[in-house]
Amino acid sequence: MTASSDKTRVLTGITTTGTPHLGNYVGAIKPAIAASQDPSVQSYYFLADLHALIKCQDPRRVEASRLEIAATWLALGLDTDNAIFYRQSDIPEIPELTWMLSCVCAKGLMNRAHAYKAAVAENEEAGNQDPDRGITMGLFGYPVLMAADILMFNAHRVPVGRDQIQHIEMARDMAGRFNHLYKGQYFAQPEAVVDERVQVLNGLDGRKMSKSYENTIPLFVSEKKLLKLVRKIKTNSLEPGEPKDPDTCTLFQIYSAFATAEETAAMRSEYEAGIGWGEAKNRVFEYLNAHLREPRERYQALLEDPGHIEAVLRQGADRARSEAAPFMDRLRHAVGLGRFV
Ligand code: TRP
Repeated sequence: MTASSDKTRVLTGITTTGTPHLGNYVGAIKPAIAASQDPSVQSYYFLADLHALIKCQDPRRVEASRLEIAATWLALGLDTDNAIFYRQSDIPEIPELTWMLSCVCAKGLMNRAHAYKAAVAENEEAGNQDPDRGITMGLFGYPVLMAADILMFNAHRVPVGRDQIQHIEMARDMAGRFNHLYKGQYFAQPEAVVDERVQVLNGLDGRKMSKSYENTIPLFVSEKKLLKLVRKIKTNSLEPGEPKDPDTCTLFQIYSAFATAEETAAMRSEYEAGIGWGEAKNRVFEYLNAHLREPRERYQALLEDPGHIEAVLRQGADRARSEAAPFMDRLRHAVGLGRFV
């Protein structure tokens, strides 16, 4: 086995359907890049582009999102000598394992998956005769593909948002059934890691920043656009000179997710002293812009050099497959699909 086998394996996937925004950065990208610098950890970060096909059947959007997300992680300093960074679709062992797991996974387990249940509930609310209307096998089996992502590399820890905890439990279930049926310790039991300290950023309208609410600030928009978006952040009608409450303010929340403790404390005093909204917005824009300028330049340069991104991801896929391929051989033997001689 490889030297990485005694390290804690941390794995997470990013579905490639959108453009990364400030909320993604604060909630997922920044903590993941920091975690990957821990020498006791081997991290596996991948573009979940097979998952993207479930939600998005616009090939240009999937393609663009893969490139943008890869460029974002690289521009923000992911060290790919350290972390194994790859595209899910470059690892053919993953869909192969998906099939093996499908054959041990109870259909009833999938009936209970939140995403599937939500889609059925929507059909029922809309009064559709067929509760499964518009639901593909991809959506139904989504947790099996996700289990394969995780179990392929025997990940110990899987950092995810709350909404994904159920999927990790399902992966544990499939791991246990496979081990039991085929009488061996093939798969470790993965654990979901939900970091309570990680901030959930609010968006322009004050609700959670999310692509589905169309209230995001994309990470690498132009300076002009960034200013425009910051000016759009919802505030209240208090006048300059009137004290303002930082703790209920989206603008302040966004600022504090980026600023140091001292800078945040200083801004808090400004709120109490009645800083005007226009002034506060200018300050937040200046701050964000100063911090995003360099990564934005690197991001633009990366997008202009897709060959480089391709090479980085291929190298990541080679490293990932050097583990996945021999493991898949073992699994084939386990289920009776090994070579004859
Ligand atoms: N389903 C996850 C999400 O939407 C993305 C994902 C795919 C993932 N495969 C994974 C996350 C494996 C962790 C581990 O956020």
